[in-house]
Amino acid sequence: MKITRYRKRDFAQVIPLLREGTRGWGRAWREEILRAYRLQQGEAYLVRENGRVLGTILLRREVRALVIYFLAVTERERGKHLGSSLVNFAEKLARREGRILRVDVAREFRQNVNFYLRLGFQRCGRVRNFYLYGDEQIFLCKRPKR
Ligand SMILES: CC(C)(COP(=O)(O)OP(=O)(O)OC[C@H]1O[C@@H](n2cnc3c(N)ncnc32)[C@H](O)[C@@H]1OP(=O)(O)O)[C@@H](O)C(=O)NCCC(=O)NCCS
Repeated sequence: MKITRYRKRDFAQVIPLLREGTRGWGRAWREEILRAYRLQQGEAYLVRENGRVLGTILLRREVRALVIYFLAVTERERGKHLGSSLVNFAEKLARREGRILRVDVAREFRQNVNFYLRLGFQRCGRVRNFYLYGDEQIFLCKRPKR
């Protein structure tokens, strides 16, 4: 398994994965994620095998945090620890930069909270009306070990 930096020239190849990974998230989120990759906003990485893209992670930097903005593994390859490998990769970057690693999960996708708790994240906040009135975001943080 190889993790490489995403470049704009990879966009066409990554579109199916972005669509698959945002299924059920609503149009606004799908377009936000597609735009972020099309314009290369933030820092994205890909997992490839034999030239095929199997997974991706999109990271953004805030003052003290490295934030996982998007994470997806293609449906056929889920459950093989590619998702956790991408998170571990982000954790190494965070450690090197002296940042905490954070991810924000919408309440309606709280099943994903368990994925991050398994990886050593802790709940560090909950914000109501974050994007829209009535919604809720669960914040999860991990302080990389020194
Ligand atoms: C969430 C996602 C990235 C996980 O990728 P994955 O490669 O299947 O995950 P892994 O194989 O690394 O899973 C690691 C562990 O978490 C568990 N796990 C995986 N997905 C989980 C989920 N959604 N909820 C709870 N546990 C989960 C696995 O069973 C595994 O447990 P184990 O170590 O006991 O075997 C993948 O399901 C996905 O792309 N989902 C759609 C997009 C999405 O919702 N992204 C999250 C954005 S916040």
